[in-house]
Amino acid sequence: MTNPLANSIHARDIAAVLHPYTHARRHLETGPHIMERGRGIEVVDDAGNTFLEGASALWCASLGFGNERLARVAYEAMRQIGYYHVFRGASNEHAINLCEHLLSIAPVPMSKVLLQCSGSEANDSALKLVWYHWNAQDRPEKRKIISRRDSYHGSTVATICLTGIPSFHTGFGMPYSDFLYTSCPHYYRDHIEGETEEQFSTRMAEELEALILREGPDTIGAFWADPIQGGGAGALPPPAGYFDKIQAVLRKYDILMVADEVICGFGRTGQMWGSQTCGVEPDIVTCAKALSAAMQPISAVLMNERIFQSILVQSDRLGSFVHGFTYAGHPVASAVALETLRIYEEMDLVRRVQALEPVFLGALAELKSHPLVGDVSGRGLMAGVELVRDKATRSSFAPDVKPGERVDAQARRHGLILRATANRVAIAPPLVITESEIHVLVARLRAALDDVAADLGL
Ligand SMILES: Cc1ncc(COP(=O)(O)O)c(C=O)c1O
Repeated sequence: MTNPLANSIHARDIAAVLHPYTHARRHLETGPHIMERGRGIEVVDDAGNTFLEGASALWCASLGFGNERLARVAYEAMRQIGYYHVFRGASNEHAINLCEHLLSIAPVPMSKVLLQCSGSEANDSALKLVWYHWNAQDRPEKRKIISRRDSYHGSTVATICLTGIPSFHTGFGMPYSDFLYTSCPHYYRDHIEGETEEQFSTRMAEELEALILREGPDTIGAFWADPIQGGGAGALPPPAGYFDKIQAVLRKYDILMVADEVICGFGRTGQMWGSQTCGVEPDIVTCAKALSAAMQPISAVLMNERIFQSILVQSDRLGSFVHGFTYAGHPVASAVALETLRIYEEMDLVRRVQALEPVFLGALAELKSHPLVGDVSGRGLMAGVELVRDKATRSSFAPDVKPGERVDAQARRHGLILRATANRVAIAPPLVITESEIHVLVARLRAALDDVAADLGL
């Protein structure tokens, strides 16, 4: 007898698809979770189950799921030209419009925009710009890059080295030697009894300075950080004074500041940029995801005049700026991104997020009384819920307990998708979420926490 499931879409997935960040062997048994369609903040799977997407599907779907207006813009751009590149001085109007617009809303004065296709490509290109800059300044030894533990900056060969998560390095023999890591500024977990946030931030800055001095300031090219630490740390805002103190150290040793705004950019944190929310003054900004409401794969690198002047110096010495990707500046992706930014303006996105922030963070803060929850912190529509074994000592569960995964699994049963790390769950819903939907989200999260607490005998 033939197996009726053999040709199911699930079986076909198992037979054909290798999934990123998925346990390959387990997937052979569990199969995929296939989403068929989406509207507003909800997605529906192929069994007809509806989920509130509390993580905007990889921090992406700022405008929710499905969008007629953006579909029409993509259709028109495809009909008009479909594809053209930006190599060797070629251009297209959609790319030009988008770059102009990005410069007009940049968090600090920026000089030029390099369009790319993904967050990883943007960070990878920014890294090459850092090295290109220091070579132009005749300081080629300034090659080392410092990022933070538990940070995620991408998956390419270079950006996985920027990423400060050892388990992402092991199987690939990474990271390469020019990459250094300083502490993730996790005040709740790592502060010493009696230490204030400001004092903790001072300690973080002192640790950074000690690392720089140990390695030699003349060997450090840039410091890399997402203003609110996303993927690896689980939506972790910096402690008070953190970036002021960190940037004072960077300025002292002439080290570039790169802000990875791949998650934080475009209203997520209650300002247009996470850099504005967290007091970051970057030399280079990378952004993606909400740039096009994730309806097209597009990213951008914004660089200041100092970096661009270095590119000019190298033009005189070396000729062309020899870097680029075929689909960078793609007219369809650029047109969709520009329309997305127009929609943000029309909906007064930043003010909308500011108005929802107290509702969102207020409702989540009520979870602090839950036996599993040690802390809740966030900005704008981005927050993390810290899961602890013992609130008094702030101690974590043993690694095999995986409380984040458990809450994630229970939340799905209650119709909610979250983003889990080991001991924290992150919530970052589409920015079109309403007040009443926020309360539904938090009620489902509470139900999932109750289930896990009961499971663990708390
Ligand atoms: C902060 C940050 N930087 C970079 C990236 C990499 O982006 P992409 O997956 O588009 O390459 C991500 C992805 O989640 C991210 O969260």
